[in-house]
Amino acid sequence: MPTLKINDIPVTVEAGTLLLDACRQAGFDIPHYCYHPALTPVATCRMCMVEVKGQPKLVTSCTMTAAEGMEVQTASPAVTDARAAVMEFLLMNHPLDCPICDQAGECKLQDYSYAYGSGDSRMVEPKRRYRYEDLGAKIVIDKNRCIHCTRCVRFTREVSGTHELTVANRGSELEVTTYAGLSMDSNPLAGNVVDLCPVGALTSRDFRFNKRVWYLKPIPTISRHSASASPIWADVDANRVWRFRPRPLGGKTSTHFIFDEERHAYHRYDLEPASRLREPKLDGAASTFEAIAERLRSTGPVAVIGQGTFGCDTAQRLGELASREELRFGSGDKHIPIQYPDLQTSSDGIFNRRGFGERGFRFGHLETLRQLVKDGAVKAVVLLHDEAFSSAKETDQIREILGKAAFSLALEPIPSALGEGAAAQLPVATYLEEQDFVVNHEGELRRYQKALEPPKGIRPAAAWLGALRDALTAQPA
Ligand code: SF4
Ligand code: FES
Repeated sequence: MPTLKINDIPVTVEAGTLLLDACRQAGFDIPHYCYHPALTPVATCRMCMVEVKGQPKLVTSCTMTAAEGMEVQTASPAVTDARAAVMEFLLMNHPLDCPICDQAGECKLQDYSYAYGSGDSRMVEPKRRYRYEDLGAKIVIDKNRCIHCTRCVRFTREVSGTHELTVANRGSELEVTTYAGLSMDSNPLAGNVVDLCPVGALTSRDFRFNKRVWYLKPIPTISRHSASASPIWADVDANRVWRFRPRPLGGKTSTHFIFDEERHAYHRYDLEPASRLREPKLDGAASTFEAIAERLRSTGPVAVIGQGTFGCDTAQRLGELASREELRFGSGDKHIPIQYPDLQTSSDGIFNRRGFGERGFRFGHLETLRQLVKDGAVKAVVLLHDEAFSSAKETDQIREILGKAAFSLALEPIPSALGEGAAAQLPVATYLEEQDFVVNHEGELRRYQKALEPPKGIRPAAAWLGALRDALTAQPA
């Protein structure tokens, strides 16, 4: 564990720590463009330079390892001059079109220009000009804004392995482009290049011009469409989610990236309030929670089916409704093909199977339940379900169980024909409208916070289930 001095402050770091990270640990943020913790360092932007005692020139802190006895200065006159010169160089051809740029508000060019730039430019020649280009249906490139950090190019080589992007030409003609007009449409990770781009050169067709980022409030949540319940940000304004972004966790490289399917999944939960179930339904008509609770209480032995895509608190409360412990059944059979083993640790799309299992839910036993219902040993079934995570075969199996039960109750955040076939339904919030936690296949606990307020009448499943449990256990007056 080497000990070094950064701005005269002694710091001890792990062996092999980059100088840039050592400076951060000491509380000194180092401006950088080309460095990214999940990509190979290339030291092309020269923004991270620091002064190391005994070295004849400034060094790039993104490629130098911290060593015993080093004495580093991060804001000496030489460093300050160098940063101002780099900023001037990077902005030479920049169009300065911040008012119409999607990156404004989260742009490293803006931030570093303000913090480290000189405020002047000696550029009198005409700036080079490119028209913006579509790199397929998902990504748009504006080369005028590119600072040639090559993060995007390295991503397509090192992570997605798709190699669509390259650096062409030299000198002032240098440009990031695609090989022979290739599109990024077949790259399932394409959206990550937008997150990686430190400036507004790569933008997302889905988000472009939709919202100024300073209006957005990032809420920590998870992706329901990955097997590891990837940590993500839900960027929210006016009770709507405008985009999903990765939420990197320290020490886990795989959390820097998400699949486009996960990134665009927020559209699925953007439900029109008028089209949602807003009040309890019983036998096809509007009803009350009390009437449903009474039917459930009076029908007889209750079994529950919980899909392992909901939170653990919800699973706990659902489990408590079962008349006996062995009447807790798990469902969900979505499979996610493994395309990138470094990013995907499981192909099981039922990301909270473990959390449900720990609460007594048995997966793969729906046939047993079907038989119990047929024999009359189970009279009522409560279903917690999301159709996107069950195959047609499993859906048919559950439909048969609900059809045979004397009474059935469905809780579905996004209603489906399966739930609508149950005798009763309760209006349930989506996961973005509640807070809970899951335990993924690796045993990691992942919490998600409430990002949106549900419309009036809609409650989290855990709240309905808790109220049902209280109604079932209450002594008749
Ligand atoms: S497009 Fe963005 S990420 Fe790619 S090289 Fe240019 S500035 Fe870097
Ligand atoms: S971040 Fe070190 S040279 Fe670019």
